[in-house]
Amino acid sequence: MTVSTSDPVILGIETSCDETGVGIVRGHALLANEIASSVAEHARFGGVVPEIASRAHLEAIEPALSRACASAGMSLRDLDGIAVTAGPGLVGALIVGVSTAKALSVALGIPVYGVNHLASHVVVDELQHGPLPDPTIGLLVSGGHSSLLLVADDASRISPLGQTLDDAAGEAFDKVARLLGLPFPGGPWIDRMAAEGDPSAIAFPRGLTGPGDRERYPFDFSFSGLKTAVARWVQAREKAGEPVPVADVAASCQEAIVDVLTSRLVAACAAHGVHHAVIGGGVAANSRLRAMARERCDAAGIELRIPDPGLCTDNGAMVAALGSRLMRSGVPGSPLDFATTSNLPVTRRVW
Ligand code: KG4
Ligand code: ZN
Repeated sequence: MTVSTSDPVILGIETSCDETGVGIVRGHALLANEIASSVAEHARFGGVVPEIASRAHLEAIEPALSRACASAGMSLRDLDGIAVTAGPGLVGALIVGVSTAKALSVALGIPVYGVNHLASHVVVDELQHGPLPDPTIGLLVSGGHSSLLLVADDASRISPLGQTLDDAAGEAFDKVARLLGLPFPGGPWIDRMAAEGDPSAIAFPRGLTGPGDRERYPFDFSFSGLKTAVARWVQAREKAGEPVPVADVAASCQEAIVDVLTSRLVAACAAHGVHHAVIGGGVAANSRLRAMARERCDAAGIELRIPDPGLCTDNGAMVAALGSRLMRSGVPGSPLDFATTSNLPVTRRVW
């Protein structure tokens, strides 16, 4: 990958949920990626508590900034621009990052870009594998979103092809984990438990794959039926006084989610004549998703890119990656009064 020392140095700030992320990027080169997580503080509530997340960001943001500068071997004065997640996410949490970014922009006299968290999850792969080919089909799978996207050469043009009709893929992982008594967030636990289980032990439903559904919803997902099926299956075992084979349930449920995600990804590529795909978002860290997507894309002649797991879950580098792309394309910074938008759709630009 070519990295020019004349490429701008961009700071990325991510505070949309429970990770305080600060990244520094030059061109496509990752210089620093510091993350402080408040996940442990939310665990006993079984989900992210917005007020706790906001306070944790406030405490973590300055130390994370200092660590990022130290690990990149630079000072704030070396920065050429700042990118910050402006949505979607928890408003109180977003405000911490956005206020910090705006203050730095004014103090340093450099532009600030308010960016879309979802677009960042797709563009982050450029830090590892260079510019995204045009066009690329993106599978975005996080805790709050699941969609198939047609991504043009410039991330400002993202067209949704399909999305979840109910739960996001990460939400499905988290809810099933909860049913199985596993800690929050459940995705990584299901991934771990599944390694010990049999993925074909239980035939859990594949949402929207019945007759008629494929035509009506070719690129959409539905995971709420799966969650209900798992709940019923577990209840039936408990009622019968039998032990719940947690590893088999985890493996079978993971298989159902991953089967649907990867088959729709390949179908979207075929339908749109696209030979490049990228997977982003926290669920892209899932080992079975990575393996099955690789297998199916190879078989279909699709070149698949997935960033390392540490870049899939929320982080500041992904925000910096999108900011870097914008600044190198000559896009002017956002006006200083740009807002935080909790329900920002994937197609909306902020800058
Ligand atoms: O993108 P992300 O870090 O935050 C959001 O923007 O939502 O995604 C978090 C989601 C959670 O639901 C979490 O359980 C899931 O990603 N996740 C995983 C794995 N690692 C994180 N799901 C399945 N397998 C994993 N290894
Ligand atoms: Zn995310």
